[in-house]
Amino acid sequence: MSKLKLGVLISGRGSNLQALIDACAAPDFPAEIALVLSNKADAFGLERSAKAGIATATVDHRDYPGDKPAFEATMDASLRKAGVQLVCLAGFMRLLSPWFVGQWRDALINIHPSLLPSFKGLDTHERALAAGVRFHGCTVHYVRPEMDEGPIIAQAAVPVLPGDDAHSLADRVLESEHKLYPHAVRLIAEGRARVDGDLVRIHGPVPDLATLTNPPI
Ligand code: GRF
Repeated sequence: MSKLKLGVLISGRGSNLQALIDACAAPDFPAEIALVLSNKADAFGLERSAKAGIATATVDHRDYPGDKPAFEATMDASLRKAGVQLVCLAGFMRLLSPWFVGQWRDALINIHPSLLPSFKGLDTHERALAAGVRFHGCTVHYVRPEMDEGPIIAQAAVPVLPGDDAHSLADRVLESEHKLYPHAVRLIAEGRARVDGDLVRIHGPVPDLATLTNPPI
């Protein structure tokens, strides 16, 4: 069986990239990373990729001042040349234009550190604490031109615990991200997560999921 070829877009530390690298190392995982693309030459995720023997490319947005179309066309060409079939945003900190998003419609996914549609944008953990929510988490979704919108593929919830600050909450969410992203990629690679209008339908069995109850306050 041929594996789904992933292109992973990063800007920084790349811990979600690492989770994908580790998942792809399992012989029965249905996807492989064809290219890691960064918009920053010093992104730590590039070192992780090199260590794993994965091809990398840097397309620095600062080399394209005022010319986002050229920046994105270069990224697009690089991904296509590597034979990428699914683009995974993993801490990629540039907003993508409707053109790029359209080029990769239903083949472009993102992981966001909140239970969407709550807390789109930045500083999600601070805002979750300020809102007093009892559950927080992360979401993997198909990308649409509007930021942090698009059909939801998978979510993981974590409790907000007494005494949490943004760091402890972020750590708990990040741990769940590292499980959720490979899970979502697997569902897509197996052809089991299919876009149906604004929703994603999951076909076939899903693992038993533990039910979270409201944490003590
Ligand atoms: C993660 O929290 C992810 O959800 C968000 O950016 C962060 C990237 O972290 N989109 P890392 O680079 O994967 O460690």
